[in-house]
Amino acid sequence: MYSREEIRQLLEDSNTYLDHSPDIGRLRELLRFHEYRYYVKNDPLLSDEAYDKLYKKLEEMERAHPEWITPDSPTQRIGKDLNDDFKTVKHLAPMLSLENSYNPQDVIEWRQRLSSFVKSPHIHFSVEPKYDGAGISLIYENDILVRGTTRGDGAEGDDITTNIRQIRSIPLSTTFSKFGIRRIEIRGEILLTKENFRIFNDSLVKEGLAPLANPRNAAAGSLRMKDPAEVGRRRLEAVLYHVSFVEYSGKENPKLNTHSGTIEVLNTLGFKTPWGDMKTYNTIDDVVNYCLDFEKKRDELPYEIDGMVVKVDEKEFQQMAGSTSHHPRWSMAFKFKARQATTKLIDVEFQVGRTGAVTPVAKLEPVPIGGVTVSSVSLFNEGIIREKDLRIGDTVIVERAGDVIPYIVKPLTELRDGSERHIHFPTHCPVCHDKLYKPEGEAVWRCMNINCPAQVVERIIHFASKDAMDIKSLGESNVRRFYEEKIISDIPSLYAIDFDRVAGLEGFGKKSIDNLRTAIENSKKQELNRLIFGLGIRYVGEASAKELASSVNNLSELGNLSMEQLQALKDIGPRVSESIYSFFHDAHNLKMLNELAQKGLNMKGIKRIGHPGRLAGKTFLFTGTLEGMKRNEAEKLAEEQGGRLLSSVSAHLDYLVVGESPGSKLEKARKINSIQVINEKEFLDLISHSK
Ligand code: IVH
Repeated sequence: MYSREEIRQLLEDSNTYLDHSPDIGRLRELLRFHEYRYYVKNDPLLSDEAYDKLYKKLEEMERAHPEWITPDSPTQRIGKDLNDDFKTVKHLAPMLSLENSYNPQDVIEWRQRLSSFVKSPHIHFSVEPKYDGAGISLIYENDILVRGTTRGDGAEGDDITTNIRQIRSIPLSTTFSKFGIRRIEIRGEILLTKENFRIFNDSLVKEGLAPLANPRNAAAGSLRMKDPAEVGRRRLEAVLYHVSFVEYSGKENPKLNTHSGTIEVLNTLGFKTPWGDMKTYNTIDDVVNYCLDFEKKRDELPYEIDGMVVKVDEKEFQQMAGSTSHHPRWSMAFKFKARQATTKLIDVEFQVGRTGAVTPVAKLEPVPIGGVTVSSVSLFNEGIIREKDLRIGDTVIVERAGDVIPYIVKPLTELRDGSERHIHFPTHCPVCHDKLYKPEGEAVWRCMNINCPAQVVERIIHFASKDAMDIKSLGESNVRRFYEEKIISDIPSLYAIDFDRVAGLEGFGKKSIDNLRTAIENSKKQELNRLIFGLGIRYVGEASAKELASSVNNLSELGNLSMEQLQALKDIGPRVSESIYSFFHDAHNLKMLNELAQKGLNMKGIKRIGHPGRLAGKTFLFTGTLEGMKRNEAEKLAEEQGGRLLSSVSAHLDYLVVGESPGSKLEKARKINSIQVINEKEFLDLISHSK
């Protein structure tokens, strides 16, 4: 539809339009192009923010010159994304978009504009998260869910009722009749939590497929699947945040006269809603502050949000404000910083990890995304390079979604000019030049030479890292440097460093050498579980390392355990036990362990004897600053007594131990009845009194 040259020109004009003298015809062309990319191709080339600026410019020009408005102007219609395979149905009320703002000033100006429609000084504003998922609308008739629809073009959407019925958080029936309601249309968002998204993406990567860009795409794709059972397996969630149509059979309910009351009603009827995160204020300053505060908590939420939505709370005032053909004037989205950017793929490097896995890493022209500069991202494996058809020299879209590591969404193939180069996966290890192998059923190529310098260095880095032996002054770059200078050659050699040679290196003064020497010396006393984890045995994470350390009196005993005995330990399955067994039956490894023992490293296990610990079977989480001990000391205490630590608040948590200035965990825990919230003293009492 558009040639490469046209696309290049359209993109260039989109970026520079606002600096030039206005040409309304060209502006419409630019917007139409981006609408086509967004709604028809599902493949936007411009950030929402840049698009909105252009859209607003057109609105502004048309406001100044209504005689210039044409029926086909982008302001006069909303885009289409209908799918032929689903039946198209009409919404009871049009599904409008929201007006976007990107800074507090925009919100303040919106408030001022509102004054010309709503004269009352008593307006309240509700503020709630802007969920980054796929929009839907639901209709309930006589308390039964009768239809679920995609947003479509805003007037009509696709009937996806069978898929919607698979989403467990959507009740198939509920008692609207108690509120006098016969028929209701509600709007909301289908989401995938970050956790479920990660699980889903991991499974794609394991199969050698490309991971999806973000939870939103995963949710939207899932809604259009042909197999409803598969939709059920993806663990989608729905949050409902707006009532667009109501027909009463009984008396109208006054609760529904406000947005906050409406959300409360939906909440009591069993829907997931913004209820817990929604606040209502009567000044715009409070609204802005809440938005800014919430942005800081963005990464703590279980799902992605891309901003906040401010809504006039009183329905009466909403009606006074009315809507444009595009959005209601009574609402405004406060968008957070963008987390996608376009940049150039400069090169691909192949890195050899600790286990010999060869990972392609894309080197990018550095680009800021949501406050972080991204210059290199993992491409995971060969299959993904092929699937995305990435080439060196490509312009690519990079996304950093929440706490998900940044990665390339896709190349912009239209921008290729023929100078791009294919990426060739190496056949031999880029470091030791041994031939690479891809074990059957795996997606990853491996260097099988355990003496490969790349693997050796990565193993030493892992051994010294924070969660393993925690040798503070020995960072990754020092390990690399010492290895290159032949000051160290393997893990045991860390304990025989010639510090005179280190003193000869640039940047090492007496103080830093003393620190390094002490840190290395102190590491000899580290607990056995840290040593086991530091050995980098494949599939042995921190939890399994703890389990192993607490089942022996001495590290050497691990070598005596049979596969069956290993499998009898908690959370150690056949794959892990096989890996442990072969590690302790390898002559090279045994020699290393022997050397470490001779250097004086702690090899003593903490075999559990007698009682299983006073906190056995209970789960703990700590928040805030404790008075009498450090957080990690308290955690250790809990674990020593058989307690298990959790990383977040959920129904699996038994005790939340709260110190000074607790975080959001406390608020969350209060909403779950089964969690006991206790202070430091109560925690210590628990240890001394419980049976
Ligand atoms: S209210 C008439 N509330 O954002 C106004 N929308 O970019 C109805 N969205 O089309 C929308 N979170 O799909 C509303 N808390 C929230 C929302 C929300 C996400 C979506 C919605 C809307 C889009 C606009």
